[in-house]
Amino acid sequence: MSDITREQVLEYDRNYNQHPWLTGNIDPIPVEKADGIYFWDYNGKRYYDMSSQLANVNLGYGNKDIIEAIHKQVEILPYIAPAYASGPRAELAKELISLAPDNMGKVFFTCGGSDANEAAIYAARTFTGKSKILSRYRSYHGSTLGSGNLSGDPRRFALETPAATGFLKFFDPYTYRSNIEFKSDEEASDYYLNLLEEQIQYEGADNIAAIEVESITGANGVIIPPNGYLQGLRRLCDKYGILLICDEVMAGFGRTGKMFAFEHWEIKPDIISFAKGITCGYVQLGGIIVSKEIADYFNGHTFLYGLTYSGHSLACAAGLAAVNYYREHKILDHVNEVGVVFGKLLNKLKADHRSVGDVRYIGLFGAVELVKNRDKKIPLVPYGYDENKTMARIHGLLKERGFAAFGRENNINITPPLIITEDELRSAFKLLDEVLTIVDNEFLA
Ligand SMILES: Cc1ncc(COP(=O)(O)O)c(C=O)c1O
Repeated sequence: MSDITREQVLEYDRNYNQHPWLTGNIDPIPVEKADGIYFWDYNGKRYYDMSSQLANVNLGYGNKDIIEAIHKQVEILPYIAPAYASGPRAELAKELISLAPDNMGKVFFTCGGSDANEAAIYAARTFTGKSKILSRYRSYHGSTLGSGNLSGDPRRFALETPAATGFLKFFDPYTYRSNIEFKSDEEASDYYLNLLEEQIQYEGADNIAAIEVESITGANGVIIPPNGYLQGLRRLCDKYGILLICDEVMAGFGRTGKMFAFEHWEIKPDIISFAKGITCGYVQLGGIIVSKEIADYFNGHTFLYGLTYSGHSLACAAGLAAVNYYREHKILDHVNEVGVVFGKLLNKLKADHRSVGDVRYIGLFGAVELVKNRDKKIPLVPYGYDENKTMARIHGLLKERGFAAFGRENNINITPPLIITEDELRSAFKLLDEVLTIVDNEFLA
């Protein structure tokens, strides 16, 4: 525990910490403690954690089961190298296979989502002997060399080097921002899948190892695929002998009301990458779940990818406790119940505020997309040109009121801890409503 003062926290942070994706002198909230769905700064101000930090603290703070599991494990065996077998690692892998679709065979643990996707790239390329990987522009898959190039959003630019080749992008089924008025989800799915099929043919199916998608695009605005899209993607992959990798790092572990988001469309991927909600941030953990076929391949071939902390004992103990907690406390049922209220509150925001162009939600995975003009769908801030820091100012207004969230482009992503109650949700939304009134009145000119 660190017991330096608020002023020291700010001074040392400013002088010695580099924050990710931010420029120079930022003004971070110095956070002292947290409990349930809240955290507090050093002045005692309370914040609703309406993003579960980075959509990872799914079970909120102060979860006694997870804390106790970590305490027990640290005393028995805090760490053991990945070449050994250990209780938490073995048991958690078995649990994950039981939660995953029945085509899944084995788990490889990493330390988080980026290296999980790095492992997915490695496994897919090695298993298929092919090199190209297709992913979508509005995706985020991580910040290491491979996962960064897999990502479509601009965070990949710094990592695009000649050393990383074979990463190709296609467009998301982002129907709200399409010029075409689709009559149905199926029509939209067909449209986007036809374009993708043509791209596959022009890239050469024999060169494509995998298509990787976030089952539901998360950081870039909770873009929910139209019905039929993921099923169609599965069919395309089968037709052309391409692996389907579903990134469940953000959408997995109950966020959408199912354990894995792809379950909404009843598909079976070949590889699933996961992280975040598996341990809810108490200790970092990620990994991939691979199909029996891929697992069998690596029974006969060396898996040439490894990490000192692969399947860390404390992380796996935390993961086991979290998975048990999701099950015993019926968290998925809770998400589905409170998710109905969440949807109603989001729709009410859309009805009440002309700055809200679209709201998207599934379970407790939501986004509010802001516009300057609702009829013409003109984004509040043109893509890539937020010179006046409009979105940062809006997030600042929210934080002033104790509503902490994040978002990219014109979105306010809302991904509260899955334990949030209806009353807590309603109180937090009052703060959002207040800020959107200011946006309506002062930001649309
Ligand atoms: C969908 C998705 N994949 C991968 C990652 C990368 O995970 P990590 O930050 O744990 O490396 C993220 C992080 O936000 C993510 O949202």
